This record gives sequence, structure tokens and C-alpha cells, in this order.
Amino acid sequence: MDAVVACDEKGGIAIRGKLPWHLPEDLKFFRDITADKVMIMGRKTYDAMPKRLCHERTSIVFSRRGLNDDQVHVVDGMEACLDVVGQYPGKEACVIGGQDIFTLFLDQGLIDQVYLTRVKGVFPADRFFPLEKVNGWNEILLLQREDFLTDLTHGGGFRCVSEGAEIQRSRRVKLQGV
Ligand SMILES: NC(=O)c1ccc[n+]([C@@H]2O[C@H](COP(=O)([O-])OP(=O)(O)OC[C@H]3O[C@@H](n4cnc5c(N)ncnc54)[C@H](OP(=O)(O)O)[C@@H]3O)[C@@H](O)[C@H]2O)c1
Repeated sequence: MDAVVACDEKGGIAIRGKLPWHLPEDLKFFRDITADKVMIMGRKTYDAMPKRLCHERTSIVFSRRGLNDDQVHVVDGMEACLDVVGQYPGKEACVIGGQDIFTLFLDQGLIDQVYLTRVKGVFPADRFFPLEKVNGWNEILLLQREDFLTDLTHGGGFRCVSEGAEIQRSRRVKLQGV
């Protein structure tokens, strides 16, 4: 499975239920990467997402307490999630977060590719991507951009990256921004 994430230099992904930054170009990248895939997310990520996007895609939402949305698949754990993924044999699955869900899937060895946007700098954050779990993975730089400074709300640099390099079927991190 793939995962897609944007994090700062310390792995920060969110603050008080929101993204720490506003990077429209990265949101577009996210939409492109997840198009036609089954999106797997935690309930709080679902809460933070535009509902239309969740409903346009096949979405699986992890929740222990349940959710009132019959346009997504709600699962209470990994077994139920993999059952739903199995219902879409022709589709790839992509884990989109947040912290607990990234950790769960990485710990179980289910992620073999991470599309990673590295946002330069350290932002106030209370949720994190576990960067240490992909330490040492093969990194493929996809595209480097250095002209996104005006997109940042909190200062710092950003280099956007998108596809291009040769893809090998090994564990890898696709770097988006360094
Ligand atoms: N920068 C990025 O790339 C990125 C990526 C993803 C998310 N985010 C941001 O991160 C924030 C949300 O992430 P988060 O880490 O706080 O929360 P999250 O992982 O999205 O959701 C946590 C919730 O998922 C459910 N859950 C977690 N583990 C479960 C398990 N093993 N079984 C069943 N349900 C489980 C629980 O839902 P219930 O409470 O309903 O039981 C839990 O409260 C949002 O602000 C979002 O915008 C950023």
C-alpha cells in the first residue's frame, strides 16, 4: 500500500485538528496521488477533510465509536479494514493518516511506499508522522520546487516535488520537498 503525507522537519502534520500550513499546490498533489485509490484514514482526518472528496473516492474511516455517514466505509480495526480493501481488488489503497493510522500500518509492514512532502521548517504541531519508521528507506526525489515561499503561512521554505524518477518495487519514500 501507499501512504501520502506532508510533514515538517520534525514530522509535524497537524495542530488542533488542522494542517499547520496552507499549501494549495500540495493539496493538488494529494488529490492526484489519491485519485482512483481507496483512501484509508482515521476519523479525525475524515473530520478535517472536505466531505465531497471523501465521498468521491472510496473511503475507509477508522473509528471505534462509529460514524454517521453511509457514503464511507467505517471500520473498527485492521481486520475490518482489510476486508473492505479486499472488496476492491482492482484498486490500490492509500493510507492518508493521521498519526495513529500511519503508525498502525507502518508497524504492520503494510506500507511499501510513502509519498512524502517535506515542508521546510518546524511548525507548531500536536500530531506527527513517525519519520523514524521510514528512516533508511530508499528515497526517490520526484520533483523539486523552491518557489513556494509565498504559500506558507508561517514562514519557512518549501520545495514541492512530483513524479518522475524510476520506480523500484522496494520500500521507498518518495520525497516531496526537502
Ligand atoms: N499533514 C498531513 O499529511 C496530514 C495527514 C493526515 C491527517 N492530517 C491532519 O491530522 C489531523 C488528524 O489526525 P490525528 O492523528 O489527530 O487523528 P486520526 O489518526 O486521523 O484519527 C484518530 C481516530 O481514528 C480512530 N482510530 C485510531 N486508531 C484506531 C483503531 N486502531 N481502530 C479503530 N479506530 C481507530 C479513532 O476514532 P474515534 O475517536 O472515532 O473512535 C481515533 O480517535 C487532522 O488535523 C488532519 O488534517 C494531516
